[in-house]
Order: sequence, then C-alpha cells, then structure tokens
Amino acid sequence: MLPGDFQAPKRPTGRRLVLFGAVGIGGVVGLVVVVAIATFVISAWLGLPLDAFGLNDGPEQPIAFPHPTHVEDLGLDCTFCHRNVTEGAAATIPAVGLCMSCHMTVGDDKPEVEKLRNFHTNGIPVDWVRVHRVPDHVNFVHEPHIRHFSEQYGGASGTCQLCHGDVGSMVKVKQVRSLKMGDCVDCHRDNEAPTDCTTCHY
Ligand code: HEC
Ligand code: HEC
Ligand code: HEC
Ligand code: HEC
Ligand code: HEC
Repeated sequence: MLPGDFQAPKRPTGRRLVLFGAVGIGGVVGLVVVVAIATFVISAWLGLPLDAFGLNDGPEQPIAFPHPTHVEDLGLDCTFCHRNVTEGAAATIPAVGLCMSCHMTVGDDKPEVEKLRNFHTNGIPVDWVRVHRVPDHVNFVHEPHIRHFSEQYGGASGTCQLCHGDVGSMVKVKQVRSLKMGDCVDCHRDNEAPTDCTTCHY
C-alpha cells in the first residue's frame, strides 16, 4: 500500500445491516417501554393515576349524578348536600329522601332520575362508589379544616376546592390531589397545624 492511498471502508454485509436494524428498532421499543413505565411509577408515587387516556376518570356511579347541574346551574351549596362536613369527620352523601324533595316532581323525562325514584320507592339506599379514602390507620376529620379555611375562602363551601378541586364542574367526581401523608404534612407545616404522628394516626 502506497502512502496517500486510502482504503475504502468495508461496507457492512447484508447480514450485519439486518442486525443493526434489529438493534435500532429494539432500542426504540425499549425506550418507549421504559418511558411508559417511568411515567406510571412517577404518577403512582405522586399518588394519582396519570391524568390522560381516561386513567383518572372518576368511577361509574349507580346513578349518574351530575354535580354541574346542581352546583353550577342550580347554585346549590356543597353543604346543602354534604351536611355533616362542618360538624364532624365525614362530609356524608345525602340520603335519597333529600334528593326526592326536588325529584318527586323534577326530571320526569330523565332515565337517571327514574332510577333514583326506584331506589326511593323500594326503600333502598344508593351504594355510591367512594372516590376519596384514607386508610383505616389514618384519622382525617373534615370539621377543623373547614373551620380553619372558611373565612379565607368565603364560607364553608369555598374550602372544598383546596383538597377536591372544582367538583362543581366535574360530571364524574375524580380525585385531583394526592392527600398522601407528605401532602397532608406539608400543608400542616405551612399552616402551623400540628404535625406529630398522633395527630393523624391512632
Ligand atoms: C344535590 C346534592 C349535592 C351537592 C349540592 C353537592 N354534592 Fe357532592 N356529591 C353528591 C352525591 C350524590 C355524591 C355521590 C356521587 C358522586 O360521587 O357523584 C357526591 C360526591 C362528592 C364527592 C366525592 C365523595 C367521595 O366518594 O370521595 C365530593 C368530593 C363532593 N361530592 C364534593 C362536593 C363539593 C365540593 C360540592 C360543592 C361544589 C358538592 N359536592 C355539592 C351530592 C351533592
Ligand atoms: C334543589 C333541587 C334538587 C335537589 C335537592 C336534587 N336535584 Fe337532581 N336535579 C335538579 C334539577 C332542577 C335537575 C335538572 C332537571 C332537568 O334538566 O330536567 C336535576 C337533574 C338531576 C339528574 C338528571 C341529570 C340528567 O340530565 O340526566 C339526576 C340523575 C339527579 N338530578 C340526581 C339527583 C340526586 C341523586 C340528588 C340527591 C343527592 C339530587 N338530584 C338532588 C334538582 C335537584
Ligand atoms: C383538607 C382537605 C379537605 C378539605 C378542605 C375537604 N375535604 Fe372532603 N375529603 C378529604 C379527605 C382526605 C377525604 C377522605 C376521608 C376519609 O377517607 O375518611 C375526603 C372525603 C370527602 C367525601 C367522601 C367521604 C365523606 O367524608 O363523606 C366527601 C363527600 C367530601 N370529602 C366532601 C367535601 C366537601 C363538601 C368539602 C367542603 C365543604 C370538603 N370535602 C373539604 C379532604 C378534604
Ligand atoms: C390544605 C391544607 C391541609 C391539608 C391538605 C390537610 N390538612 Fe389537616 N389541618 C390543616 C389545618 C390548617 C389544621 C388546623 C385546624 C385548626 O385550626 O384547628 C388541620 C387539622 C387537622 C386535624 C386536627 C388536628 C387537631 O388535633 O386539632 C387532623 C386530624 C388533620 N388535620 C388531619 C389531616 C390529614 C390526615 C390530612 C391528609 C389526608 C390533612 N389533614 C390534610 C390543614 C390541612
Ligand atoms: C397530617 C397527617 C399525618 C401526620 C402528621 C403523619 N401521618 Fe403518617 N400517614 C398519613 C396519611 C394520610 C397516610 C396514608 C397515605 C399514605 O400512605 O401516604 C399515612 C401513612 C403512614 C404510614 C403507612 C405507610 C404505608 O405505606 O402504608 C406510616 C408507617 C406512617 N404514616 C407513619 C407516620 C409517622 C411515624 C408519623 C410521625 C413522624 C406520621 N405518620 C405523621 C398522615 C399523616
């Protein structure tokens, strides 16, 4: 070989090309899988399902009760239905009797109202699917939270969005805040509320 001569690079053989191609595609698929898994892990760690592809839609309820119709259109207060929220631990879902104070006469042509009337006629309580729930070893009480934030947020019903988001606009109620231990403790620290373990654990 004379100086100055150059050697043409060897062209990859057909078999090598196939191999490179396979590794390339495998790499892309692998990356997509890794990204997908990472996204799920991160969102699970934050405490909420991924808010895309319908993964964080609220559950189907036995009666498709629409908050927007009652809150945005009729202007009912949250506390009109969730009556115990300013008094105790649970906010409570109203009994069918309260709904019937209107639906005895309102909503004649609506199939979902028809279902409600059947529950009423048969004396069966509606088994609503729970959306928010802390584990049994955790003590959560609504009352002190509502009391503390009411003045700042224009009344009891103004405080709910702090933890539940804008329920008045949700056709199906879904959870929008993690309400995991870190979330509770952070808010307690920011508001000079107690943070010792026995505040929240029996
Ligand atoms: C007319 C009665 C009514 C009014 C007014 C009302 N709600 Fe509800 N709420 C219900 C019923 C019935 C359910 C159970 C069915 C469902 O989840 O949609 C419910 C469910 C909920 C849940 C989910 C409970 C769970 O299982 O975790 C939250 C949170 C909630 N309401 C907050 C609010 C807030 C905040 C407002 C005011 C902006 C409000 N509600 C106004 C009747 C009402
Ligand atoms: C203050 C009166 C009032 C109360 C109390 C009330 N509703 Fe309604 N509700 C209405 C009105 C008004 C409509 C709209 C009816 C229409 O569009 O014809 C409605 C609509 C509905 C619909 C039909 C939505 C649709 O478009 O298909 C359902 C289901 C319903 N309400 C369930 C309930 C339940 C469950 C409760 C009790 C937790 C309740 N309502 C309490 C007034 C009330
Ligand atoms: C500081 C956060 C916080 C605020 C503010 C808050 N909630 Fe809740 N809410 C929760 C948590 C946490 C749960 C789950 C509690 C459990 O599992 O015992 C819950 C559960 C509920 C439930 C279902 C179980 C039950 O207690 O009946 C309803 C309904 C509800 N909230 C309504 C409301 C309404 C209405 C308001 C405003 C008046 C409100 N919440 C304000 C944190 C909050
Ligand atoms: C938006 C902020 C906020 C969030 C989120 C929050 N808290 Fe609180 N919490 C407070 C404040 C402020 C108080 C003090 C109220 C008062 O003035 O007595 C309080 C009080 C309490 C109390 C009563 C303490 C006592 O002995 O007086 C308990 C129990 C409690 N929170 C549990 C929880 C749990 C469990 C969670 C999470 C599921 C949670 N909180 C989430 C702000 C929050
Ligand atoms: C402001 C409320 C609050 C305080 C204060 C608090 N926790 Fe919790 N803790 C929670 C909530 C809510 C959960 C359940 C949700 C979760 O797993 O994050 C929980 C869950 C736990 C769990 C179970 C974790 C699991 O994986 O199931 C342990 C253990 C625990 N807490 C220990 C403690 C200890 C120890 C302290 C004191 C240093 C403490 N907590 C203080 C709210 C609180």
